[in-house]
Amino acid sequence: MKLLITRPIAQPVLDQARARFDVTLGEAPLSEEEASSALTAYDAILPTLGDAFTAAAFDRAGTPRTRILGNFGVGYNHIDVAAAAAAGVVVTNTPDVLTDATADIGWTLILAAARRAGEGERLVRAGQWGGFGPQSLLGTHVTGKVLGVVGMGRIGQAVARRGHHGFGMDVIYFNRSEKDAGLPARQVDTLRDLMVQADFVVVTVPGGARTTKLIDADALAAMKPGGIFVNISRGEVVDEVALIDALERGAIAGAGLDVYEAEPHVPERLRALENCVLLPHLGSATVETRQAMGQMALDNIISFAEGRDPRQRVN
Ligand code: DGY
Repeated sequence: MKLLITRPIAQPVLDQARARFDVTLGEAPLSEEEASSALTAYDAILPTLGDAFTAAAFDRAGTPRTRILGNFGVGYNHIDVAAAAAAGVVVTNTPDVLTDATADIGWTLILAAARRAGEGERLVRAGQWGGFGPQSLLGTHVTGKVLGVVGMGRIGQAVARRGHHGFGMDVIYFNRSEKDAGLPARQVDTLRDLMVQADFVVVTVPGGARTTKLIDADALAAMKPGGIFVNISRGEVVDEVALIDALERGAIAGAGLDVYEAEPHVPERLRALENCVLLPHLGSATVETRQAMGQMALDNIISFAEGRDPRQRVN
């Protein structure tokens, strides 16, 4: 069975894959055209973020040779799952194993933005720090404030737990259904309610057509002037230009971003902002988590190859 792994993954997982399959290892994200060719050339593909398995890619592939896309990542908005299903291609993902790592990055951003850690670090590195000052680089207190979670899935709940247990925060959330996160969290009726009430807004919804530009100029305008906005889901969920406008005007105090609309492109205007902490999509980037993600993606492909239904099937 021919397996394409589109990007290097943890060596022990790669070794297992090579022991079972005829593996080709890619290095860079697949364009739509490359994704389409891959669908006609391999029995199974282990793709990840940035590989363009769009409806057009499936269309161009006709009747694909590929039977399974064992995605590396919980998010799979780079794969048109409906087009995959129509072409008879099973899609799986890697939930759970990255929940804690991603929630930790959410908190890295909350704390770094609140305490102006990026600005401080740049000052020190530039050799421009003039010493301790009672009024210098004052940030925002986090403990006891209101944490607003947009999307109370596994990652949202993990962010909320850290806020409640670690920082004594009042947690509110906006989600289609009510969730029991095992802590006193209050569901609000509208996104606007959340934006108005929260001191810290953290976005953890899945990417996709339903959530594209969910956070628009109106939503941002509803935030408190001292509010801090954090996105650890997908860049497309936020109107990036509206966010930049709000940050430039000082309409909100700051932001922390791990994801961007057109990764790896990060707009110049965003990079110029002092009140925004920018990370390069590090949500799941720990050695342990990335190995577990690779293992789960491969296990799904192995299950499928052995005639079993893969556990993390999404279509
Ligand atoms: C995911 O799994 O969707 C992440 O964004 C990649 O770390």
